[in-house]
Amino acid sequence: MVVKVSVTKANSIEDMAQVAAQKFVQICEKTVTKKGLFSVALAGGNTPRRLYEILSSPPYVHRLPWDRITVLLGDERLVPVDHEESNFRMIKAALLEQAPLKPQNILRVYTELATPGSSAADYELLIKKHLGVKEGALPVIDLVLLGMGPDGHTASLFPGTEALKDKTSVVRANFVPKFNSWRITLTSATIRNAQNVIFMATGADKAQALKEVLEGELNENLYPAQLIRGMVGKVEWLVDNEISAGLNQSLSSSSTGVGQK
Ligand code: 6PG
Repeated sequence: MVVKVSVTKANSIEDMAQVAAQKFVQICEKTVTKKGLFSVALAGGNTPRRLYEILSSPPYVHRLPWDRITVLLGDERLVPVDHEESNFRMIKAALLEQAPLKPQNILRVYTELATPGSSAADYELLIKKHLGVKEGALPVIDLVLLGMGPDGHTASLFPGTEALKDKTSVVRANFVPKFNSWRITLTSATIRNAQNVIFMATGADKAQALKEVLEGELNENLYPAQLIRGMVGKVEWLVDNEISAGLNQSLSSSSTGVGQK
């Protein structure tokens, strides 16, 4: 089944980050014009770092309405915030230390709480309170930035893991056997409820996963990034040549005019 989403090919990480920054600003400004506020869940890992650096540097750092922006994390490793594996640590260095966000609008995961479950429950409450989520409802996050691993995971929703079964929580603690460690992650239900999702993914090692996610048989337990299927919100993929080589669907090119496939 081919999922109709927009797939834009960039010719480098820099090009991809520049395109992502343009899309981020467009969505942010449109949302703030419409409702006065903007919430964004940031992806961890390595790929989005350059995007965060661009957003926290001129011209974007002077253009974005930072006082209207709430930043949260799509997922976090259960490590101290100053640990080299911490997503918050990377995001703080690349974005939060330069962008003039209001401290109360930076929603981090308190990984220092007693158990993974308490960190997840605390984060869920923080998000619900900050975004004014009614009891039993899901937050509507304006933009969720995501990456994807070679196994088709996204956020910390890994193949075959318990969090994939949770269709009601906003945030879940998720034990990941392959890493023998705990993660805190937005659930697929929360991500699917977003107004916009932008994936950034590159590299030949992820090409098979991308083909399965976009064009393969539906099997979310095996390819969690397939959670985007049937979403009401807008889904965009920013990819490079290597990851998208095997796709049948047509690709658009990045603003730098990379050749049409
Ligand atoms: C994390 C991310 C994870 C990431 C993918 C891709 O905590 O690691 O949330 O889902 O987006 O693993 O990571 P790279 O961008 O480093 O390839």
